[in-house]
Amino acid sequence: MSKYEQTLSIIKPDAVERNLSDEIKQIFILKGFKIAEEKKLKITKNEAEKFYQVHQTKPFYNDLCNYLSSGPIVAMILEKENAIIDNRNIMGATNPKDAAEGTIRKKFGLSIDKNSVHGSDSAENAKIEIDFFFKN
Ligand code: CMP
Repeated sequence: MSKYEQTLSIIKPDAVERNLSDEIKQIFILKGFKIAEEKKLKITKNEAEKFYQVHQTKPFYNDLCNYLSSGPIVAMILEKENAIIDNRNIMGATNPKDAAEGTIRKKFGLSIDKNSVHGSDSAENAKIEIDFFFKN
């Protein structure tokens, strides 16, 4: 069986709006990821609520869903060995203030909400999130 793994990456509205999509994609490519599929789209609040349903009990859920549906995003299937953990390491900590030097969120993130990228946190969620954007 292939050791290659897939994960879902989203370039969020703050980064798309600042024309950072190509630069962020280039970072993934230089780190050895293949962008197996990608699409630029704008989702509705309802779709954002479905996408982030794991966070539905969190106090930030409503703002988060408003934000993800506020402008165009780029959804990508990233592929490489250990794609899920490697993507999370390249993104950096959720809050850009805590993110390590050289990570995407350190470089481009504006705040904990406008943190430029999303990445699946587990194999289970990667499958769910990939299906959400690419299997319909
Ligand atoms: P993301 O990786 O897309 O997953 C959920 C998002 O919720 C997270 O990035 C943040 O942008 C956002 N968020 C807002 N407030 C918080 C918080 N206090 N803790 C974690 N995530 C938060």
